[in-house]
Amino acid sequence: MQNNTFPTLFVGQSIQKLTEIDSTNNFLKLMLSNYGPPANGTVIMADHQTAGRGQYGNKWLAPAKKNLTVSFFLKTDFVLATNQFNLNKAISLAVHDCLTHFFTEDCKIKWPNDIYVGNKKIAGILIENRLQGKYLRDSIIGIGLNVNQTEFYDVNHAISMCLITKQELDLQKVLEILCVALEKRYLELQAGKNLDKEYLQNLFRFNIPSLFRCNEDVFEGRITDIDNMGRLVIESGNINRNFNIKEVSFVL
Ligand code: BTN
Repeated sequence: MQNNTFPTLFVGQSIQKLTEIDSTNNFLKLMLSNYGPPANGTVIMADHQTAGRGQYGNKWLAPAKKNLTVSFFLKTDFVLATNQFNLNKAISLAVHDCLTHFFTEDCKIKWPNDIYVGNKKIAGILIENRLQGKYLRDSIIGIGLNVNQTEFYDVNHAISMCLITKQELDLQKVLEILCVALEKRYLELQAGKNLDKEYLQNLFRFNIPSLFRCNEDVFEGRITDIDNMGRLVIESGNINRNFNIKEVSFVL
């Protein structure tokens, strides 16, 4: 473990840097089961992940030493399990805050918690919660942030900070800004601040007529809200429809 000089109270005060690991989320999970919870805000980062995980069982691929592949351990025992999407909102806003510290290009949160610049993904978030009764207990927040990668297998759908700013960024500096942003949003969540307005203000395609796919059906609608359960509310033909995470996708 390395002690840091980041200007935070707890997020990133303890950082473990790994050269290579299957997945930083897996590593934190193993730490939890072998040694119990580490200090709140502990960070695990890896130069390279050999089996990085994305949402819905997808893989997260990133070249060694180019991007941030990092997991945060956060105590979330003040979040009701039924309100757990509020945690997603806080984390998405934190990643958004971090990115907009470095550039002014249009950066949006693509529901539920991807971060996009234009129509291209710049960051992905994988949150894994442990429950305790009606509340969360703690959470592993995995973040993959494209920082200095310049070549992508899928150039039409991926982008990096470096491609936007036209200069290489210092990964340690990006991590510092991310830790500061995460701590700020975490403390807001803990204090009971309602983040709905800010989440909607920064939501990809909010209130913009767009095409969506549900099963094989493509329909036009516009996002009007996120409901209490974190479902996407799309108004289509004057009717509001609420969609769970796997039930709808954007037609980009
Ligand atoms: C997604 O967009 O599907 C989520 C991607 C999350 C990737 C990060 S990289 C660090 C952490 N470790 C993992 O195995 N996954 C997350």
